[in-house]
Amino acid sequence: MLTTTILACKCPILVSPAMNTRMYTNSIVQENLDKLRRHGYTVIEPASGYLACGDTGAGKMPEPELLLQAVLKEVAYEKDMKGLKVLVTAGPTQESIDPVRYITNHSSGKMGYALAINAMRRGAEVTLVSGQTALEAPYGVKVVPVVSAKDMFEAVTERAGEQDIIIKAAAVADYRPANVASDKIKKSEGDMSIALERTDDILKYLGEHKAEGQFLCGFCMETKDMLENAGKKLRAKHVDMIVANNVKVAGAGFAGNTNVVTLVAEDMSKELGLLSKDETAAQILDEIMRRKNR
Ligand code: CTP
Repeated sequence: MLTTTILACKCPILVSPAMNTRMYTNSIVQENLDKLRRHGYTVIEPASGYLACGDTGAGKMPEPELLLQAVLKEVAYEKDMKGLKVLVTAGPTQESIDPVRYITNHSSGKMGYALAINAMRRGAEVTLVSGQTALEAPYGVKVVPVVSAKDMFEAVTERAGEQDIIIKAAAVADYRPANVASDKIKKSEGDMSIALERTDDILKYLGEHKAEGQFLCGFCMETKDMLENAGKKLRAKHVDMIVANNVKVAGAGFAGNTNVVTLVAEDMSKELGLLSKDETAAQILDEIMRRKNR
């Protein structure tokens, strides 16, 4: 019934093989899966672990949430970003003081992840350069984990040339300890201070080395004079659009699932109002696509 129905279907077809690990790794099964891939079927790789039959290995059914993500990737959105390469940065950076301590910020990564997921569902090929967050790696997105601002600089600049759109949602440290102690710093009487040095401004570098036709979107988090500062950053860093938010506004900022942002470009200042981070991401991408296509 299933195979005859599938033969007659013209819709996208996803296959999620789940079976004993020796069955799954059997070359006949693998050849058949390759054949399906060649014919345009999407094969969702099984998870690995302890299987119902008592064996351990690849062949486990993926979590239902992952299967849902795979279905949404195919059907949930119009594929208006198909063929575009998008790089998103997200989350905080960590700057080591010694082997046990670091300087960081409150970024949760939620806004950047929402942008990456939305772009992926709209058909883009998405790379997510992410600082350390508590979020799961999204299905269908290439995740490049990084720790420090220096790591993020290297991961982003290495891949920047080939991107159509770069969105810098990460909260990158502006300063790092000038010297990282190789052993744990012991306390002593009195106060102490840590000498800090500047990190590279990744967004500024990208603005100065923009590839032909590339769209560069930065973020700007302020506690006062938001629009004025956003305009200054837009020009100083040569970016096409800045997503500005004031962390002091209710519903905006790092930890929650909502945001209140204003999109700022040379000819625009558009307030989006209180929205979920998912809907904020969708509207940011709508604006980028409008500007890219005009
Ligand atoms: N940014 C970056 N590299 C840095 C610092 C910031 O790429 N070393 C990027 C952020 O990812 C964001 C934008 O620059 O897209 C603005 O970050 P923000 O911290 O608001 O501004 P700064 O330019 O660092 O200025 P200031 O801290 O003085 O407000």
